Amino acid sequence: MTEAAPILELARRLAREAGAIQKQRYATELEIETKSAAVDLVTDVDRACEALIVDGITAARPGDAILAEEGSGIDQPGALLRWIIDPLDGTTNYAHAYPRFCVSIGIFRNAEPWIGVVYDPLLDELYEAVRGEGALCNGEPLRVSPERDLSRGLLATGFAYDRRKSEQDNITQFAAFLKAARALRRDGSAALDLCYVAAGRLDGYWEFKLQPWDVAAGCLIVEEAGGRTSDAEGGASHWSGRAVVASNGALHEAMLDVLRRNA
Ligand code: IPD
Ligand code: CA
Ligand code: CA
Repeated sequence: MTEAAPILELARRLAREAGAIQKQRYATELEIETKSAAVDLVTDVDRACEALIVDGITAARPGDAILAEEGSGIDQPGALLRWIIDPLDGTTNYAHAYPRFCVSIGIFRNAEPWIGVVYDPLLDELYEAVRGEGALCNGEPLRVSPERDLSRGLLATGFAYDRRKSEQDNITQFAAFLKAARALRRDGSAALDLCYVAAGRLDGYWEFKLQPWDVAAGCLIVEEAGGRTSDAEGGASHWSGRAVVASNGALHEAMLDVLRRNA
């Protein structure tokens, strides 16, 4: 058994259990509140999923650090492992019963991405990756698309919650990619968008103003499926979520080029 195996198994179990809550409560009456902006929502299901995951980690591994979107994480200075949790990625979709959302669990080891698990409970698709060991969906190896021409690429993106107030709203970049690519999608779950790049369903994805929990699992899954992830300059600051570009690798420079020309 590899060193990662029991931790991966714990992440899988917690992602499936949180996903079961999401599936059970899907399209039922939710308690919905707003956070940073009127369009930034949180539901009782986000909180229930986070509690389940954080309790599960602390019961099994009390020394690990946890960063969790809804604030119930535990800082453990000096911990070797840091879990980075988005308990429900795609809350706006979830609140509208739009069937695209997931659980995302990333695990960093010594401050480096190590394990990623993303679970889509409606499609029952479990994506996972361990650094250096490849990426899987429901046990089958994942591989990015072979597309080499941006004009034939299907790309996805998203728009930040401060878009009503900020001029950095991704509209310039969206317009540029709309002309450059075959088609664009905005489907409301960054973690699933990344997994779709890993699965070759999308050829590329970019977004600004995300958070570490949106990308911690998905970017590792893309890289382990043979793709490339970076920030908008091709650097490695994307694990912060501030600017994220993910691609099949072949289209990466062309995507960075569009972003540089439309910054
Ligand atoms: C959001 C989704 C969305 C992205 C937003 C994220 P949340 O996460 O990933 O696709 O465009 O920027 O914040 O709030 O549903 O966990
Ligand atoms: Ca999210
Ligand atoms: Ca979330």
